[in-house]
Amino acid sequence: MSDAYSVFRRHGDVIKWCTPSILPEVLALDADACEGSIVLTQSGDLLTNSGYFRTLHESAARAYGNSGHSHYCCEGTTGSNRVLFRLLRSIMKNDEEVLATRNVHQSVVENARSRRVPLRYMRTRYDSDAEIFLPPEEQDVLDGLTDKTRVVLLSTPTYEGYSCDVRSIVDKVRARNPDILVYVDEAWGAHLAFHPDLPDSGTQAGADFVVQSIHKHGGAPNPASVMHLGRRATDLYYDEFLRTIGSGVLATTYSFPLIARMDYARSILEQEGQARIDRLFEVAERLRNEVNRGNLSVLGDRSEYSRDPTKVTVDVRRSGVSGYDVQRKLMERGIAVSNWGQGSVTFLTTFQLSGDAVVPTVDALRGIVGSSFVDSSVASVQIPANLEKVVDPWNVVSTRDVHLEESAGLVLGEDIKCYPPGVFIGQVGERVSSEFVEFLQSIKGRAKVVATDKSLDSLVVADEF
Ligand SMILES: Cc1ncc(COP(=O)(O)O)c(C=O)c1O
Repeated sequence: MSDAYSVFRRHGDVIKWCTPSILPEVLALDADACEGSIVLTQSGDLLTNSGYFRTLHESAARAYGNSGHSHYCCEGTTGSNRVLFRLLRSIMKNDEEVLATRNVHQSVVENARSRRVPLRYMRTRYDSDAEIFLPPEEQDVLDGLTDKTRVVLLSTPTYEGYSCDVRSIVDKVRARNPDILVYVDEAWGAHLAFHPDLPDSGTQAGADFVVQSIHKHGGAPNPASVMHLGRRATDLYYDEFLRTIGSGVLATTYSFPLIARMDYARSILEQEGQARIDRLFEVAERLRNEVNRGNLSVLGDRSEYSRDPTKVTVDVRRSGVSGYDVQRKLMERGIAVSNWGQGSVTFLTTFQLSGDAVVPTVDALRGIVGSSFVDSSVASVQIPANLEKVVDPWNVVSTRDVHLEESAGLVLGEDIKCYPPGVFIGQVGERVSSEFVEFLQSIKGRAKVVATDKSLDSLVVADEF
């Protein structure tokens, strides 16, 4: 057997509270039974939604609660976002904009830029105590709408499993302007439609576009994904959507084994999703109960949002050990978590895990954090307010470096990300505010930074645009 096989095979021994969340039967599916080729035209073609693929997609739409067209994608939600931004470019007029939450995935930022789709950010909800992003509230979306808004893009549920009320946002936005399209990046929500106690999926809530990573929590392997066009988007844009898919934006040769596995996961969840997800709830509840003792606690409900109980975010701040160290030390002990930051680690209860994983996980966690309490008065990182957008990034012609102290009032020529919070806090084309400079000074040496000059002594600014 090859080296890579044996290296990856060893991952089988890890206790995985992380993606991919794969249904055991899907994991065990015989690969030979999935052989396929795009030249075997008798089964039709994924890209043109012909032959048997039409049936597959109809089943997907039914199962995921979509009254329009659903379409499998073998390139993750990253690929699905690529398709939809290409489609948006052909639908939107040049001066129209996408109003987005700031915690969008980098594939949204990247695809918007490469297709020259202007993005504007709405008010951002960030809990600086827990150091997590929260979805927008209804009013944040409504306050962000302008005459130029053509699309509202929501990234929900968040990494920690909090969701906003997409149904109500869809209704209110349409009441304000029926032409606005609502696009939900629901990468973390491929299981939502299969259990009544989970938040509504964007498909059920009537959004126009919804993208989901089926490999994250929908039961199939990497990098399974699905794009949903709601009823209205299907009526208006189905032909353009297929033209987009066929235009070379996705690989011509897609994975038959992956599509077969997505369909298998769909059929299991459609028939017995509630029971399968009930089991996830039980395991997560056990983990929550065990953790909620001593110097650790689990982030709980918030009245403004629904919460996905299959995610357990452990607040480690009172232990004095950072979430980064907890993640690394758990990994050394053969336990993987879903994501982590300075003050917390998040466990995703996957379909492969059994309840037996809880005790060794909590024992390892306690071994790492000990039992002492520390003063939690360590200042948490606040995030600066959204910067004013001056110019679209693709219109920046040249850049130069300036000392951080001299940058206020100038226009950024680089993207700046820091952990926490883990998203772009400043982007090319935005005006540097004095608050932003003060913020960068305050995090020097405290937070991890993605910037040209990681010491933050200087910034790249736009010279000409
Ligand atoms: C909100 C969101 N969108 C998109 C993606 C990209 O998903 P994929 O890995 O399926 O390409 C991620 C990945 O973490 C994500 O969190």
